[in-house]
Amino acid sequence: MRKKLIAGNWKMNKTVNETIRFFDNLLTNIDHSIISKVDIAVFPPFLDLYVALEKCKKIDIIIGAQNMYYKDEGAYTGEISPVMLKESGVNNVIIGHSERRCYFNDSDNVINEKVLSAISHNINPILCIGETEKERKDNKHFTVIERQIKRDLFNINSENIRNITIAYEPIWAIGTGKIATPDDADEMHKHIRHIIGEIYDNEVAENLRILYGGSVKPNNSKSLLERNNIDGALIGGASLKPDLFLEIIKSAIE
Ligand code: 13P
Repeated sequence: MRKKLIAGNWKMNKTVNETIRFFDNLLTNIDHSIISKVDIAVFPPFLDLYVALEKCKKIDIIIGAQNMYYKDEGAYTGEISPVMLKESGVNNVIIGHSERRCYFNDSDNVINEKVLSAISHNINPILCIGETEKERKDNKHFTVIERQIKRDLFNINSENIRNITIAYEPIWAIGTGKIATPDDADEMHKHIRHIIGEIYDNEVAENLRILYGGSVKPNNSKSLLERNNIDGALIGGASLKPDLFLEIIKSAIE
């Protein structure tokens, strides 16, 4: 049985003070018995990681980073290394989000370097993949996803793949209010599991957690999360509000 993971990707939102207020609210309102039933993660901006980790010291909520560079140190102005993350107590990182791919030119090659680097520092990546609206319209979505998986996971062996989570985030569904139907999302997750089974083996594929991301809200989360192949959600907008985030967390165990 794969335990569900509900993860919030804050993107470039929230100052340190807003982060403190978010966790004060969430931790007051969360029923602590939920934590044993579902995994919860929050990915704040780098500057907020310290207070987020402090706030979650006594509660099992994963705090991770939204990105990292693949080198350990050096002349890479503006970048954050896996060594820095690890020493700060960060053991999880989002890699290959479509906003990184589109706005900051993270190629499959760079994403592969980042995944390999994270793994070598014992940081667990959530690898994001997803097709554009045009690719889906042209019926290329399955091949696009297969290509991304093969390139982004190049040289990842069958031991290391166990520490990776995949997030399927169709680009046309991110921040648009357009959501993949539970049928379409489940079909794509099944396809991803099949590809992982072919590259590695069935046991690896069965244990792989595959999250859905793109306009997940409290009013649609349950219908997605009850599907066999959907093992959680990566949430943008709705993860910024503690009450909405909590409602989605609850819908994972109903
Ligand atoms: P939204 O939930 O705001 O559509 O964002 C999804 C996302 O990109 C999570 O990584």
